[in-house]
Formats: sequence, C-alpha cells, structure tokens
Amino acid sequence: MTDPGEGRRHPQLRSPTYAVRAPLARWLREEADLAAGSQRRPRLLDVGCGAKPYEPFFAGAVTEYVGVDVANPAAELEGTVEEIPMPDESFELVLCTQTLEHALDPARAVRELRRVVAPGGRVLVSTHGVQVYHPNPDDYWRWTHAGLERLFRENASWSAVTVTPASGTTACIGMLVANFIDLLAKRAHARPLAMPLVAAVNLTARAIDGASPRLREPGPGTIFANYHVVAQP
Ligand SMILES: C[S@@+](CC[C@H](N)C(=O)[O-])C[C@H]1O[C@@H](n2cnc3c(N)ncnc32)[C@H](O)[C@@H]1O
Repeated sequence: MTDPGEGRRHPQLRSPTYAVRAPLARWLREEADLAAGSQRRPRLLDVGCGAKPYEPFFAGAVTEYVGVDVANPAAELEGTVEEIPMPDESFELVLCTQTLEHALDPARAVRELRRVVAPGGRVLVSTHGVQVYHPNPDDYWRWTHAGLERLFRENASWSAVTVTPASGTTACIGMLVANFIDLLAKRAHARPLAMPLVAAVNLTARAIDGASPRLREPGPGTIFANYHVVAQP
C-alpha cells in the first residue's frame, strides 16, 4: 500500500504545491530534530492531522503522537481546532498544518491551541497566504504575515510569536502558474506532459527568489503562498 504522506514529506519539483510542501517538510524536520535534542521528549498533538503525514519525522523525538480531526479514521480523537478535546496544557508540541484556513472561527482556534500547549512548549502552525480554493470540508481564510501575527497576538497571551513566509514571492506566483498548467493538463488528459513544465517553473522561481532577499522577506509588493508560525506560551 502506498504511504499517503510520502508526497508531503518528500515533495517533488513536478508538484504544483512544491512551494508550500517543500519548505513545510524542511521546517518540520528541523522542529523534529529540535524535539529529539530536548532534555525531556515532548508529547505531540497534531490538530487537523489528516493522514498524519509528518508523524514519521517525529518518531523517536516525541513520547506520544496524538491526532485530532473531524471525522477522520487516521485520527485518535474526533474534534475541531475550535474545540480541542484535550485538557489544558497537556502537550509540549502542538502541530496544526494547513488546517487554520478550514476553521470556521480562527480566533477561537488560536485560543484553543494556546490552551492545550504546556508551559515551555511550542505551537507550530502553517497556513496559506495565497492558494486556490480547496474545500476540506470548506475553505474560508487567507492571511498576510501581519494579519496572521495579529490573529495570534490578539487572541492569546504568548511570550513570542514569529511568522515566517515559507517561500518567496516568485515561488508564490510560480505556484499559481503551476496550478493553472496542471489544471489545463488535467482537462486535456495530458497530466504527464505538464510535469516537466511545472518542475521548470518551480526551479526557476526558486532560483529567482534565492537571488533576492526583497522577494523572500515581507515588505510592500511581496506575496507569499504559505506561512510558518511558531507561538510560545
Ligand atoms: C488540507 S488538510 C491538512 C492535513 C494535514 N495537517 C497536512 O498538513 O497534510 C486539512 C485538514 O483539516 C481538517 N479540518 C477541517 N476543518 C477542521 C476543523 N475545524 N478543526 C480541525 N480539523 C479540521 C480536515 O479534515 C483535514 O484533515
């Protein structure tokens, strides 16, 4: 049986979501290494866990890996990010990847993520700046770096919140172009033909962003596909 998380952990350049998934996998591998090096191994709660694609990164780094999701057989617990079925301060690591945009009430979600994280712990969230509509079961929100930071700071008390664009402005534009190429190819039943083209778009975008910090760092005129948030109680 194929592992549904494989494409998330090792995204291919030919994937239209490469600009989102490659930096996300890199970041979570780094976070898993950090957890593995900590004095006391953390318990991890994955909220909106889907198929728990990142669980293998954390194997050996955490003492427990618990998934929460709405009606999902891969999850240990059924619940929402707005009402997490876990006690206060019960996990040192709280992961919530590509789920906040699907939450009806993101402010309440942030309060819940803060409630369940233990003192000294970390909340790790990723969510979109720009993305096509992708209901799961619905799709409500997009953010700027400033809006996402404000959402976290206004709804809970944190000692630190950092919001980092996952990839650059060209990667974001490239992702939209790649999505469009993929869509056209699907309609023409010629998806394999689109793959080298998508890979070329992703490779070129990565090279252009790599050459210019102004395309990678938040500022007027920039646009980002995805953000990584680290929030510490
Ligand atoms: C795009 S998938 C992301 C899955 C996984 N976290 C990942 O990064 O691959 C969004 C997930 O959020 C779940 N979801 C949607 N609304 C939710 C909510 N209000 N609370 C918790 N999970 C939710 C969906 O069931 C789905 O598993």
